[in-house]
Amino acid sequence: MDTQTAVKDIPSGMEVTLGRVVLRVVALSPGIVRFRYAPNSTFGPDESFAVLKDSGFSTPEVKVIDKGPEVVAQTGELSLVVNKSSLAVTVYDAQGRLILMDRSDVPFTFTPEGFQTWKRMSEDEHFYGLGDKAVSEDRRQHGFSMWNTDAVMWEESTDPLYKSIPFFMSVKAGNAYGIFFDNTFRSNFQFGKFNDEYYSFGATGGKLNYYFINGPEPKKVVEQYSALIGRTPLPPLFTLGYQQCRWSYMSEARVREVTGEFRKRKIPADVIYFDIDYQEGWRVFTINRKTFPTFEQMVKDLGQTGWKTVLITDLHIAAIPGYKPYDEGVKNGYFVKNPDGTNFIGPVWPGPSAFPDFTRAEVRKWWGSLYADFVKMGVRGFWNDMNEPSVFYRADKTMPLDVVHSVEGRKTDHREIHNVVGLENVRATYEAVLALAPDVRPFVLTRAAYAGAQRYAATWTGDNQATWNHMRLSLPTVTGLGVSGYPFVGVDVGGFSGSPTPDLLTRWTALGTFLPIDRNHAAMGTRDREPWVDGPEHEAIRKKFIEERYRLLPYIYTSMEETSRTGIPLMRLMLLEYPDDPRMTLREAEGQYMFGNSLLVAPKVKEFVDGYDMLVPEGTWFDYWTGQRVELKEQDNKEMKGKLHLNPKLDEIPVFVRAGSIIPRQPLVQNTSETPNGPLELRVYPGPNCRGSIYADDGSSFGYKRGDFYRGQLSCESSGNSLKIAIAAGEGKYVPWWKSYSVVVVDSPKAPSSVAVNGEAIRDFHYDAKGKSVTFQVPFSRQASEAVVQY
Ligand code: GLC
Repeated sequence: MDTQTAVKDIPSGMEVTLGRVVLRVVALSPGIVRFRYAPNSTFGPDESFAVLKDSGFSTPEVKVIDKGPEVVAQTGELSLVVNKSSLAVTVYDAQGRLILMDRSDVPFTFTPEGFQTWKRMSEDEHFYGLGDKAVSEDRRQHGFSMWNTDAVMWEESTDPLYKSIPFFMSVKAGNAYGIFFDNTFRSNFQFGKFNDEYYSFGATGGKLNYYFINGPEPKKVVEQYSALIGRTPLPPLFTLGYQQCRWSYMSEARVREVTGEFRKRKIPADVIYFDIDYQEGWRVFTINRKTFPTFEQMVKDLGQTGWKTVLITDLHIAAIPGYKPYDEGVKNGYFVKNPDGTNFIGPVWPGPSAFPDFTRAEVRKWWGSLYADFVKMGVRGFWNDMNEPSVFYRADKTMPLDVVHSVEGRKTDHREIHNVVGLENVRATYEAVLALAPDVRPFVLTRAAYAGAQRYAATWTGDNQATWNHMRLSLPTVTGLGVSGYPFVGVDVGGFSGSPTPDLLTRWTALGTFLPIDRNHAAMGTRDREPWVDGPEHEAIRKKFIEERYRLLPYIYTSMEETSRTGIPLMRLMLLEYPDDPRMTLREAEGQYMFGNSLLVAPKVKEFVDGYDMLVPEGTWFDYWTGQRVELKEQDNKEMKGKLHLNPKLDEIPVFVRAGSIIPRQPLVQNTSETPNGPLELRVYPGPNCRGSIYADDGSSFGYKRGDFYRGQLSCESSGNSLKIAIAAGEGKYVPWWKSYSVVVVDSPKAPSSVAVNGEAIRDFHYDAKGKSVTFQVPFSRQASEAVVQY
């Protein structure tokens, strides 16, 4: 083998050659570095389905220093050392701390079957991410594949699942970095499954091409990664309300009945889904007129009563001559092809079907045109399912590897495209719906995804099951997606396959209140799941939790808006907030999570337990439901140091508020198109660095991008016997619905001696001695306001 080495300076980096292998190290910013390998000297075209072309990263100055046996590239934040005789990479930070180290003897291998790379793994290293993996939050000790799969009846540890998000974050002693391995072929990740010294990743084709993203804070890693691949846009407000689905509501009459029941029973809800049976013969973009005779009128009527309609529109197109989408696709050559040039046909719901080749702009545009009638009718969202793509009755459950796709003219096969079919499918749908109604935020829901799909569609964790363990798996799958740049996620509340016991459905409904998407769904042949089906006692509890979701909407929407700007997921791993608490990397921490900046949720997710312990992060915490301070019993019981024992009853879900938070809540509405009647509540939980914010806009247009939003920063500060609450001058020109604030200060030791609003004493305040809270009103103003409570 030719082992000549050479080093070349290139813009923002260097190129190191060893024999025929070329390694390019290029910084996108001082903390983000891309590593690209060409095993045979040439790199070929540089394409990505995930990385934004305009991610805003510039080309930083990089200093390259040749040190004989190794060469160092310095970005200002990182030193990237490449060993000239092996091309092994070592990364240090500016303080000289070792962050990442390739396996020195075999940093990588290239074989005809693919390639693999190995990195050192330390004993205290933990791994997070890789999307919807149904194992522990810490992915260590597991191995994974990325190959989008219709994982019917998936179980804990089933792998691969529906999505391929080849991004992970390593956390070690509170310090984090991320790696995004931008490769769409079948790839694999090994985090100590076979070997404790090295972790490893590789793929069966494509390029060894990854981005190293420095922290050290875990939040910074997620923020930077999401800047690279794009963030979830601000969703329409209604999508944060309660969503009801089932496979299927079989007729218009049934839909009217179910939606009517919600309104009659005053159980708030926003979305009704139509699964495949509203269609004729499961043909996408058709309507079964026998069972849905006045579909258009129904959509209108639903809209009148505050319901948003979401329709399933799967990607497969029934191969039936005379069926317009099929005829058009055939005529124009829009379908995925067999190697011999004929259309690939595979069976899905409607029988033999053809598949649009979504990697072509022309095809995406045509696909989009098929949505015109539905959008005109007022349908508000679309559900793209089966887009792994799922193909029935084949051992591989999908298309043969040799089918031909065309990436804007470049022909390639399914090995490269399989994992991005879902992404390109929802890209087509999102762009189409946007083009048809340019000032309305689209809502698209996808099952399959590759990194980048979060820009177009929300997702859910596919066909889970009606078991306690699947309810528990809602946590590591959703937090796993969140840390992987995919924050807008739901799970089928109640479990898709099988029928939940009444208790399980009630517990899961409570959990749904604190998930990013709260959607109840059920498989064909399983029992009804609407909140009232188990009698008045269960109904009352479920209703209480769904109502709480609506009361908490200002906080949820404000948090989601923040997510759309920062990439930090609404539902997040504890360690994102508490990286310096080593307990948060323990398996013990996996039954709890943060919901926004301020709320800690610790649901009961195991059936036969006499309670469980929650790890209480440093500082003071309040019970969300009672406003009472959390008292730890650690003086009496050393084993319980920093822990709280919980044993919630059926009508309870433990939720806690971090001291130093201000939580906005609103009066109850039955759906998000209703304007809340009364003041916006600001619940003040005094404590260090006390902050909160409130964001509002019209909830559905892009007006917010033109300044039509309202944002108020909130803060509080205690000193001596007084507490000052400040509402900063509002940003943006939107006029929010509230005319005043109802400020509720929890943890008030005694009745205040005075309360002043904007410098004037008010007499109209109320002290609740039992709940230890003070309540008073502050008029809404765009100017800064301030209240002082004196004890
Ligand atoms: C798939 C989906 C499920 C849907 C069903 C019928 O199984 O995952 O949510 O109800 O197809 O469309």
